[in-house]
Amino acid sequence: MTRITTTRLKRMKQDGEKIACLTAYDASFAHILDAAGVEILLVGDSLGMVIQGQETTLPVTLDEMIYHSRAVRAGSDKALLMVDMPFMADASPEQALHSAGRLMKEGGAQMVKLEGGERMRDTVRALAAHGIPVCSHLGLLPQSVHKQGGYRVQGRDEAGALAMIEDASALEAAGADMLLLECVPATLAAEITRAVDIPVIGIGAGPDVDAQVLVLYDMLGITPGKRPSFSHDFLAEASDIPAAVAAYVKAVKDGSFPTSAHCF
Ligand code: KIV
Repeated sequence: MTRITTTRLKRMKQDGEKIACLTAYDASFAHILDAAGVEILLVGDSLGMVIQGQETTLPVTLDEMIYHSRAVRAGSDKALLMVDMPFMADASPEQALHSAGRLMKEGGAQMVKLEGGERMRDTVRALAAHGIPVCSHLGLLPQSVHKQGGYRVQGRDEAGALAMIEDASALEAAGADMLLLECVPATLAAEITRAVDIPVIGIGAGPDVDAQVLVLYDMLGITPGKRPSFSHDFLAEASDIPAAVAAYVKAVKDGSFPTSAHCF
C-alpha cells in the first residue's frame, strides 16, 4: 500500500503538520497534483459546475462520479482518493452503502464524502461499520443550496455555531474519519478543529484547521465568473500549472495560505 492512508492523516494532525488537498477530475491533473505532494485528491461533485457547466452540483450522477474517480485514480499513485457522494445517492443508510460500494469498487475511492450533520449520523455509522472511511461535510452544503437559500457563510450566529459543534462531535462519535468545513467563520472552524481528534479540512474556514482544500479550477483562475473570496489564483504568480500547484502546497504547509483576506 503506497497511497496515503487515514492513519497517516490522523498522525499529521497530531504532529501539527498541515495537509494539502485539491479537487481533481481527470488523470492528467491528478498526475500533476500527486507529483506536487498534494495528500488528498477530492473528486468533488463541483465537477457538475466546473466540468459540466451546470448551475449547481445537484444534477451530477453516481455513474459520472465513478467515471471521474477512475480517471483520477489512474493518474495518481500516492494521494488518498476521496470521492463525493452525489445528491440523493445517500438518501438512506442502505442507499449510501450501495453507492459507497460502487464508488470504492468501480471508482477506486478510498474515502467517501457526505454532506450533512447530525441527520447523517446513522448513515455514517453504517458506512463505518462496513469499513468505509467517511468525511462529513458541514457548513455551506452545496447540495442543500436551495434549502440554505444560496451559497452563504454558515454558523455566524450562536445557535448555528453551537449546532455545528454538536454535529462535528456526533459525526466523530458515529465513526467519521474526517470533517470538511465549508464557508464558516475562522474562529468556529478553529474551535471545531480543537474539539475533535479527526483531521478537519477547511475551505473558506480560515487557517486554524488541519487541512486546506480548494476547487482546482478556482486556484488556477480558470473558473468562469467571479472567483470565491476565500480562494486565490496561484497560477497568476507562477510560470505554469505544476509551479502553481507546488506554490499552493508550500503555502498550505507553511501557513501562508489562507490569509485574513480569505477568511470570514
Ligand atoms: O465538490 C467539491 O469540490 C467540494 C469542495 C467545495 C470542497 O466539496
